[in-house]
Amino acid sequence: MAILEVRNLHLYYRTLKGAVRAVDDVSFDMERGNTLAIVGESGCGKTSTASAILRLLPRNVERYDGRVLLEGQDIMALNNETFRKDVRWQGISMVFQGAMNALNPTMRVGKQVAEPMLLHSNAEAEEALQEAKKALRSVGLPEYVFRSYPHELSGGMKQRVVIAMALILRPHLVILDEPTSALDVMTQANIMNLLKRLKKEERLSYIFITHDLGLASELADELCIMYAGKAVEIGPSELVYEKPIHPYTEALLKSVPLLRSRREPLSIPGVPPDLVSPPFGCRFHPRCSVAFEECGWRASEMARILQKLALTDADLQSLSGDAIEVKDDLTLTLKLGEGANAGRLRARLKELMASQEAGARVFQAIREARVGDGALTIRLHEAAPLDMIGERHRAACLLLRGGEPRDA
Ligand SMILES: Nc1ncnc2c1ncn2[C@@H]1O[C@H](COP(=O)(O)OP(=O)(O)OP(=O)(O)O)[C@@H](O)[C@H]1O
Ligand code: SF4
Ligand SMILES: [Mg+2]
Repeated sequence: MAILEVRNLHLYYRTLKGAVRAVDDVSFDMERGNTLAIVGESGCGKTSTASAILRLLPRNVERYDGRVLLEGQDIMALNNETFRKDVRWQGISMVFQGAMNALNPTMRVGKQVAEPMLLHSNAEAEEALQEAKKALRSVGLPEYVFRSYPHELSGGMKQRVVIAMALILRPHLVILDEPTSALDVMTQANIMNLLKRLKKEERLSYIFITHDLGLASELADELCIMYAGKAVEIGPSELVYEKPIHPYTEALLKSVPLLRSRREPLSIPGVPPDLVSPPFGCRFHPRCSVAFEECGWRASEMARILQKLALTDADLQSLSGDAIEVKDDLTLTLKLGEGANAGRLRARLKELMASQEAGARVFQAIREARVGDGALTIRLHEAAPLDMIGERHRAACLLLRGGEPRDA
């Protein structure tokens, strides 16, 4: 049975620039005893997804909805008091990003580890302290740590303390948000080994959040790749690593440096989009090396790219200044001023349409280009609707339409 089912989760933040669509229709399932790794670049919405599951919301929430079922129970439908009492810490606990630096410097470690138990169960102080001792032992810390203050401990030890704290109420599910990113590699390896041991011994289920695909491979049974607020590929980790089906996952895998390999890591061109106005259609299309006409191109994108090309491309020189006008989402006009050569312009656009270069993918979206009224009017193809395609291993990419995923 699934321990967690997440359906159509949304979390938008209100800002002066508009709503930040940090989690935008994310759905996934996970099985008990499994680890689901959520992987993606900085700012893609990993922490926001965890916060939405745990209902840890800042004040500036603009939209928050969806369904989250923990062992079949819809925890989003619970009232706040019941959620706080039954779900937080006991049902799902979380090791926050950077949590080891947020330990209370004036409180002894043992007491801090006992705190969730005192606040979220009926345990008496003595019982909670005994459980804290046990929890510290289970994460491999020596006895004296119980009476230490956080500043007396190393980074790795502090990270073990926050893991002990997350485990004290024996939760069904533990969310680990970048649990090793502030640690040196040896300490990181030790913490990963600890997490693996606890997973096996206590049959823990984890959501493991990281930007590091290599690290995720050590622990993950399932992978969820996020891009710009969306889950773009989900599946058993061995399949996602061996045969990724989304171009973003492929690019991400190629960007991982490999020991003992001559292959140079490849970077993904461009930067992740602003989540206030993310790209239309497939959000990855401006950076996708195989994007095609239906991926979501807009006239404004083509205008921007043409303006840039006009600076260096002799055949497009006539397009500098205000010669390009965006009429609507799918239409733009290129004014043919004096000296402009419509034939040359059309021929150059044709060349660009045939080009396979990453920076020229937008030109594949041209549906028609007509000359009239002293201008060349370009109409673009509409975007195709985009859904997750596939069953156990699935991805949101239009290239998967009408066929089985490549590994099925
Ligand atoms: N309270 C907030 N108000 C406005 N925007 C926010 C808020 N919290 C996060 N964001 C924005 O939401 C987006 C997703 O942020 P989130 O922290 O979930 O990303 P992340 O994948 O965890 O990144 P990182 O790897 O850097 O931790 C980012 O654009 C971020 O700037
Ligand atoms: S739908 Fe697929 S091919 Fe199109 S831009 Fe997105 S990832 Fe690339
Ligand atoms: Mg984060």
